[in-house]
Amino acid sequence: MAYLLFTCLVLYVLSICSASPPNFVLFFADDLGFGDLGCYGHPSSLTPNLDRLAAGGLRFTDFYCTSPVCSPSRASLLTGRYQTRSGIFPGVFYPGSIGGLPLNETTIAEVLKPLGYATAAVGKWHLGYGANGTFLPTQQGFDQYLGIPYSHDQGPCQNLTCFPPDVKCFGLCDVGVVTVPLVHNDKIKQQPVNFLDLEKSYSDFATNFIITSVKKNQPFFLYYPSHHTHYPQYAGTRAAGHSLRGPFGDALFEFDSTIGNLIATLEQMGVINNTLVFFTADNGPELMRMSRGGNSGPLRCGKGTTYDGGMREPAIAFWPGVIRPGVTHEMASTLDILPTIASLAGAKLPPVILDGFDMTDLLFHKGKSKREAMMFYPIDPNEKYGLFAVRLGKYKAHFYTRGATHSATTPDQDCSDFAVLKVHNPPLIFDLEADPSEHYPLPLDKRPDIQAVLVQIKKVKAQFEATMIFGESQISKGENPDLEPCCSPGCSPKPTCCHC
Ligand SMILES: *[C@@H]1O[C@H](CO)[C@@H](O)[C@H](O)[C@H]1NC(C)=O
Ligand SMILES: *[C@@H]1O[C@H](CO)[C@@H](O)[C@H](O)[C@H]1NC(C)=O
Ligand SMILES: *[C@@H]1O[C@H](CO)[C@@H](O)[C@H](O)[C@H]1NC(C)=O
Ligand SMILES: *[C@@H]1O[C@H](CO)[C@@H](O)[C@H](O)[C@H]1NC(C)=O
Repeated sequence: MAYLLFTCLVLYVLSICSASPPNFVLFFADDLGFGDLGCYGHPSSLTPNLDRLAAGGLRFTDFYCTSPVCSPSRASLLTGRYQTRSGIFPGVFYPGSIGGLPLNETTIAEVLKPLGYATAAVGKWHLGYGANGTFLPTQQGFDQYLGIPYSHDQGPCQNLTCFPPDVKCFGLCDVGVVTVPLVHNDKIKQQPVNFLDLEKSYSDFATNFIITSVKKNQPFFLYYPSHHTHYPQYAGTRAAGHSLRGPFGDALFEFDSTIGNLIATLEQMGVINNTLVFFTADNGPELMRMSRGGNSGPLRCGKGTTYDGGMREPAIAFWPGVIRPGVTHEMASTLDILPTIASLAGAKLPPVILDGFDMTDLLFHKGKSKREAMMFYPIDPNEKYGLFAVRLGKYKAHFYTRGATHSATTPDQDCSDFAVLKVHNPPLIFDLEADPSEHYPLPLDKRPDIQAVLVQIKKVKAQFEATMIFGESQISKGENPDLEPCCSPGCSPKPTCCHC
């Protein structure tokens, strides 16, 4: 009843009154840069389906994730809270990690469950596995899950096939741990995973989920965090060799093709006009992979850094007939997705401190973004240093900068790990509209206007940090090899015996 009324309110602009609450499909790419999609200007990427969504939907130019690495960024997306609150730092989870996203955190799936939504996650989880799968998606509001529960380079890949007919995976993956498993709900289906069939399994699983939910007349939430385009690149026969861009381009095209399949399914099932499709990515490109990694376009540096290249991402919102096509320069974040979905569904917000804002006015072209500032934490946030940078309006101030191994090999010396922690007092200030590449710090001398901006940024930073309570670090709880997922529990010698 509540949602019926609410959907009527939301859709009054269209003078239609739909009885069904909207569905949500959330795509999350991995290590994808601001400059990687055709619709964001990449000259040789092949992304026809994302380009179509961008042309028919709202494309963001100033959209941020919350961390330049994976696990913390995912925690923020699913909870609407900076990763410092949930304790998802420093760095990322490993196969034998003891911790995980605390089960008392409320995910988007858990926000929607009380309204009768069907929920599924497919792909890369990376918010913990834990003893007997304690931290898997099925413990966090998802009815179903199919995927590798962490990064697909977090297991030996040297002898695995990444491209047909039998091209071995390129580069060094983690050794001394189990090979990466394919997990269905909480059961291991395959170990090691077969990369050539993986995307098809995901596409089929997601397609079935949509069809089944529509047939049951159930609103649904599909969360699809893809392994693409994280290293090592892989693709099956339908995508390999199809792009002009080599392994990265083929992997991206394979993900784009699944997006196309799922949009076609939404159309065929007659629910495309009642579904918000949202696409973005977890962090910037892993530049150290050189031409096999992503591209941050005009933005500075990439993964691992708090320059914009590490955290500003492509983002597209698509909802035919409801979201008018266009481009927005308003600031928004992955933090804002939970409150937006809650608002559209008419769901209750979790009773915790949220860092996100409802974006519905922005999506419906009825107003500006409620977000005025974006906070930049490094991969290893701590209370002593606090924020590395703050963006307020078009200005970004860096209090600390540091390069990262993930961003090594580019000509810009400030991106690589040789650029050690630098304190900036006064902070470096950039005008991101005039200088999106953060190349030319604004002078403070004889510039009372810029000095006033700095005072304002310092005030916003102090207010934010005064209320930030760091959660217990989940990643510092360490690792226990016994917890690594194994398809043959109790076998010996582990990890090599975990092979099914
Ligand atoms: C979850 O539980 C921990 C440990 O009791 C607590 O510190 C934390 O504040 C709780 N988080 C939420 C979101 O309730
Ligand atoms: C996992 O569950 C099995 C069966 O219930 C139990 O024997 C085992 O001790 C559990 N493992 C851990 C690490 O809790
Ligand atoms: C890869 O295969 C070779 C030959 O079978 C074997 O010697 C090597 O240990 C394998 N490497 C890994 C990481 O599994
Ligand atoms: C969706 O709405 C468009 C007009 O906005 C219409 O042309 C199309 O047929 C609708 N599709 C479905 C599946 O209802």
